[in-house]
Amino acid sequence: MTEPAPGYSKINWLYEMYYGFRPNQPKFLPKDYPDLTGKAAIVTGSNTGIGASVVQLLYEKNCDVISVVRTEEKGLAAREKTLKEIPNSKGSITVVGGCDFLDLNNVRPTAHKVTEILKGRPLNIIIHNAGLMSPVNTGTSVQGYEAMFSTNVMGPQLLQHFLDPIFLKKDDPLKRIVWVSSCAHLMGFKEYGINWENPTFEGVPIKQRPRNMTLYGQTKAANLLQSHAWALKHSEAVQKIGAVSVGCFPGNLSTDLTRDWSFINMFAPYFLGTALQGAYSELYAALSPDLTTKDHGAYVVPYGEVHNPREDITAAYKNGSDLKFYQMVEELISKYF
Ligand SMILES: NC(=O)c1ccc[n+]([C@@H]2O[C@H](COP(=O)([O-])OP(=O)(O)OC[C@H]3O[C@@H](n4cnc5c(N)ncnc54)[C@H](OP(=O)(O)O)[C@@H]3O)[C@@H](O)[C@H]2O)c1
Repeated sequence: MTEPAPGYSKINWLYEMYYGFRPNQPKFLPKDYPDLTGKAAIVTGSNTGIGASVVQLLYEKNCDVISVVRTEEKGLAAREKTLKEIPNSKGSITVVGGCDFLDLNNVRPTAHKVTEILKGRPLNIIIHNAGLMSPVNTGTSVQGYEAMFSTNVMGPQLLQHFLDPIFLKKDDPLKRIVWVSSCAHLMGFKEYGINWENPTFEGVPIKQRPRNMTLYGQTKAANLLQSHAWALKHSEAVQKIGAVSVGCFPGNLSTDLTRDWSFINMFAPYFLGTALQGAYSELYAALSPDLTTKDHGAYVVPYGEVHNPREDITAAYKNGSDLKFYQMVEELISKYF
C-alpha cells in the first residue's frame, strides 16, 4: 500500500486548468534548438497532431527520427509531407508501423524493429507522445484493460522497458525521455491520481467505471509518476550518462485527439492552440538546456516552462509512491516482455 496522499489546493487546481487555456508564449523556439546531425529520436503517435509536428521540427534540425505509429500508411503519408516541406534536411525519417497499444503483444516486435534500425548507434531522445482521450468510458483493449490505460500508460512503459538497454548507454551527452502528460492529470483519482485497487479496471463492468475524463486524468497522472519513477529505478545509470526524464503537458490544442468529440470540434479553433505550439512544449522538454538531472519528473507546461503538478504527485516523488506505481505497472506488463 502507498502512504495516504496529501490533499491539494483547489486554487492551484483552478489556476493550472486556466493556465492550460491561456498559456504564455513559447520562448524556446526552433532557432534555439541545437543542430541534431547524427542524433536519433523516437516519437510515438507521430502520424498526426503534436507528434507529426515534433517529427518535422526534429527533422528540420537534421535529426534521424524513428516515427512509431499504429497504421503504417498514415505514418508514411506524414513522412512524405514532411520530406516535401523540408527538402534540405540531412536527417532521416523511418516509419515503424503496427504499434497499436490496444494490443500489448505489438510492442515487442516494434522495439525489435527499432533496435534493427538503430544498429547499435546512440538513441538520444524518446518522446512517449501517442495517446488516446476517449469521449466514452467503454473502451477496452484486446487484453481486457481500460483502453486509455493500455494506450497511455502500459504501452509506453512496455516500449520503454525494451528501449532501456539501448538508451541507457554512455554514448552521447544528449539523453532525454519525455512522457507526454496533460493538465488533465488534475482530474485523476484522489490518491496520487491513481485507482490503486485496479487501475486497469480489468473485469469491472462498464457501468461501474468512472467517467471518461477521470480515467483519462488517471493516465496523465500516471505519465508524471512514470517520468520520475523511471529515473529513480535506473538512478545509477541515469546519473552516469546524464539522462533526463520529464513529463510534459503540451497545451490544450486543436488536434485529432478530439476527433470523436463533435461538440469540442465545433469550437476548437477558437479557444485551443495548434499542434505546432504543442510541439514547442514537447521540444522544450526534449532539448532545453534548462532541464538537467535535477529535474526528473518536471512538469513542463505550454509552451515550454515548468510548473508544479498537483501537490500529491509531488508528494509521490518524495515518498516513493511513484516507484510503487511503476512497479505495479511493470508486474502487469511483464507478461508481454
Ligand atoms: N491535444 C491536446 O489538447 C492535448 C492536451 C494534453 C495532452 N495531450 C497529449 O498529447 C499527446 C498527443 O496528442 P495529440 O493532441 O497530438 O492527439 P492526436 O492528434 O490524436 O495524436 C495522437 C497519436 O496517438 C496515436 N494513438 C492513439 N491511440 C493509439 C494506440 N492505441 N496505440 C498507438 N498509438 C495510438 C494516434 O494514432 P492514430 O492517428 O492512428 O489514431 C496519433 O498518432 C497525447 O498523449 C495526448 O494525451 C494532448
